[in-house]
Parts: sequence; C-alpha cells; structure tokens
Amino acid sequence: MMLDDAARRRHFEALYAHDEDPWQVRAAWYERRKRAVLLAALGRPSYRSAFEPGCGNGELSASLAARCERLLACDGAAGAVAAARRRLQGDALAHGALRIEQRSLPAQWPRAERFDLVVVSELGYYFDAGAWRDLVAQAASNLEEEGELLMCHYVHDFDDRAASTASVHAAADAIPALVRTVQHRDADFLLEVWTRRAA
Ligand SMILES: C[S@@+](CC[C@H](N)C(=O)[O-])C[C@H]1O[C@@H](n2cnc3c(N)ncnc32)[C@H](O)[C@@H]1O
Repeated sequence: MMLDDAARRRHFEALYAHDEDPWQVRAAWYERRKRAVLLAALGRPSYRSAFEPGCGNGELSASLAARCERLLACDGAAGAVAAARRRLQGDALAHGALRIEQRSLPAQWPRAERFDLVVVSELGYYFDAGAWRDLVAQAASNLEEEGELLMCHYVHDFDDRAASTASVHAAADAIPALVRTVQHRDADFLLEVWTRRAA
C-alpha cells in the first residue's frame, strides 16, 4: 500500500488517535531488545545535544534524555507528540533541556541546529529515495565533528513501507563525511552508527 504524504500523515494521526502505543513499543520484546542494543551501540556515555526525528510516543526519547544534556524529539503526528510529552513530563521539559515538538519532515527538519547525536529509529522507510537521501545529507551536516548518526530499522516487509531498510542505510554509506563505526544486523533489524570525520 503506497501512500502519498498527506495520506501518510492522516494514517499516523489515526493510529495515535486510537492507541497511544500503536506499535507496542513499551512492552513488545522486539522493541525492548532493539532499544537495549541501540543504547549499547552509542559510542559515548553522554552527549551534549541530540536530535530524534519521528520520536513516536517518546519511549526511546526517555532513555536518550538520560544520556543527553539537551534533546530535541519531534514527530509529525499531534497524537504522538502529546503521548511523548505525557511520557517525559518533568523538569527537563519545563526548563527547555528537552524539547518535544510537532514537526513534519522533511519540511520542518531543524536545518540550522548542531547536534553531536542524531538517532533515527524506524522512520527512513516511510520516505521515497530522493527525499531520504536529502534528509541523511542534512543530518550529516547538522552533526558536529565526531558526532554520531545512528539508524535502526526493521528488515521485514510491511504494508506501508516505501523503501527497503538496505537502501535507507545505504544513503548514509554514500556520504563521504561519514564513516561507519558500528554495524549490528540480526534476523529482525539493522542498526548502524556513522561518525562524522574531523575536517
Ligand atoms: C514506526 S514509528 C517509530 C517511532 C520511534 N522512532 C520508535 O522507534 O519507536 C514512526 C514514527 O514516525 C513518525 N513519522 C513518519 N513520517 C514522518 C514525517 N514525514 N515527519 C515526521 N514524523 C513522521 C510517525 O508519526 C511515527 O510516530
């Protein structure tokens, strides 16, 4: 089932309108195991400023927030943003160290901001190849030297997949400023980290 951008937005809004955890990210073993691998794959104990596009209901954001001085987490669906704010309510949200914003990508990607970590989990396969290549190039230019881009995606087929996981990750391999530093591939997901080379 191929959806255009507007139909895809309505699809995600409808999912969150019925259930604030449509993929069971809080309880499903696949999600919990993947989160543990993802957090273990990060190269540093802590980061200055991280970006998590497509944050969903904020379950991964909660773990990232514990490792980052500042975190911008965003999602295109209002229902996801509301759920993430409920999940992460507290001082960090109140004081601006944690921002949870409704942003539709690619239009509202934070082009001017600098990060030492960008985490893309289960998002890239919703974009067509050209738009995704541009977004990954943008993510690379948002990164500080030695900053990390982590991508993690399910490998099996599903209805509204627009691109293969292999092609989503190949977009980062094609960027000369990025060097791949971690690769984890198993029966269910591919997780890779690229580090931005020093100039
Ligand atoms: C499968 S969920 C993944 C959520 C979370 N990253 C995780 O790994 O658990 C995909 C999320 O990406 C969001 N999303 C998809 N396309 C988007 C777009 N173009 N702009 C912003 N958010 C988008 C959806 O609303 C949804 O919350």
